[in-house]
Amino acid sequence: MNRDDFPILNSGVIYFDNGATTFKPKCVVEAVKAYYEDYTANAHRGDYDNSLRVDKMYEEVRNKVRNLINAEKDEEIVYTKGTTESINMVVFGYLAKKLKKGDEVLLSKSEHASNVLPWIILQEKIGIVIKYIPLREDFSLNDDLIEDMINEKTKVISLAHVTNVIGDVRNLQKIGDICKKHNLLFIVDAAQSIGHLKVDVQECNVSFLAFSAHKMLGPTGIGVLYGKYDLLKEMDPLTYGGGMNAFFEADCSYELKDVPWKFEAGTQNIAGVIGMGRAIDYILEIGFDKIHQHEMKLKNLAIQELKKIPNIKIYNEKTESGIVTFNIDKVFSQDTAVFLNRFKIAVRSGNHCAKILKDEIGITNTCRASFYLYNTEEEVMALVAALKRQDEVYDHII
Ligand code: ALA
Repeated sequence: MNRDDFPILNSGVIYFDNGATTFKPKCVVEAVKAYYEDYTANAHRGDYDNSLRVDKMYEEVRNKVRNLINAEKDEEIVYTKGTTESINMVVFGYLAKKLKKGDEVLLSKSEHASNVLPWIILQEKIGIVIKYIPLREDFSLNDDLIEDMINEKTKVISLAHVTNVIGDVRNLQKIGDICKKHNLLFIVDAAQSIGHLKVDVQECNVSFLAFSAHKMLGPTGIGVLYGKYDLLKEMDPLTYGGGMNAFFEADCSYELKDVPWKFEAGTQNIAGVIGMGRAIDYILEIGFDKIHQHEMKLKNLAIQELKKIPNIKIYNEKTESGIVTFNIDKVFSQDTAVFLNRFKIAVRSGNHCAKILKDEIGITNTCRASFYLYNTEEEVMALVAALKRQDEVYDHII
């Protein structure tokens, strides 16, 4: 892993907030810059050289995404603003017309806002019933109980692949098999996993998958909705305008373009698409195995050393992702984060948008250190050293 690829690290920041967003390597920034400086044009609207170049790159990235997640067709890849928009598109563009009052959707209490709030609104609009798959004592999903929860009203299971506070990795294969057996839609929120673990939508029988590029070294404001082709065909766009229609007339007749373009109304985030493509190349050049091993090495070191410090409560010792969630006993998590900032250590504190997880862990706020490929063991030890000085927390923040 080459830290020199990330100029922002020269500032000396120890960045452990990769669950919120990741740094961008030079090659991604340069790809975005080149689009703006060297060949700006809109996509699918011009017949001149730069425009044709943009068209080609825009569609090539679709193919890169398809290969990344092993989708069957390029057309199953829709560009969106990110995970949140992707999930909203499925809930309000597809399920709002497919589900009816009393139909049941299975979630868990460790989902973040984007995979709970749209369902709450759908419940309000059409009367679906949300049920939560229980968590185990270590707050990971108890997937052994899923089949017991399924009845003739169950229609959808919608879960994060990796959760953003506990960092438990869901067994997509097992859950996908259950969905197949019971003919349920399987929606996967891959926001926290896409830059860290291999995802295979065909093998795991995923119906829809959502992710954001900015959590995988790419630009902000761009992400993906994957959907099985036949499902996307039946899904309605939530946005109408240029680029997504085949024609419209004054007499109100119209025809929309085919999947996926019917979901891409208006000028898209072209620079974002190009940057996302470069980020995918960068990640694949390193390889998911190497990234995961590195993150687990850092996580295991952090757990081993944090456990030696009195008054540190760790919430997710056993999970198989590079997320460590903790508190200093009797210290508000935001105070801990402000204290760590004095050492140039960036962690996230608060409820991390997983606002119903408190029902399970009995606590609203935590600190989260989330590691990525450019973090080092020295940085982990700096976190440990800072937390050993916990007696000074209030000296620093008051
Ligand atoms: N959902 C993002 C996080 O967990 C923002 O930090």
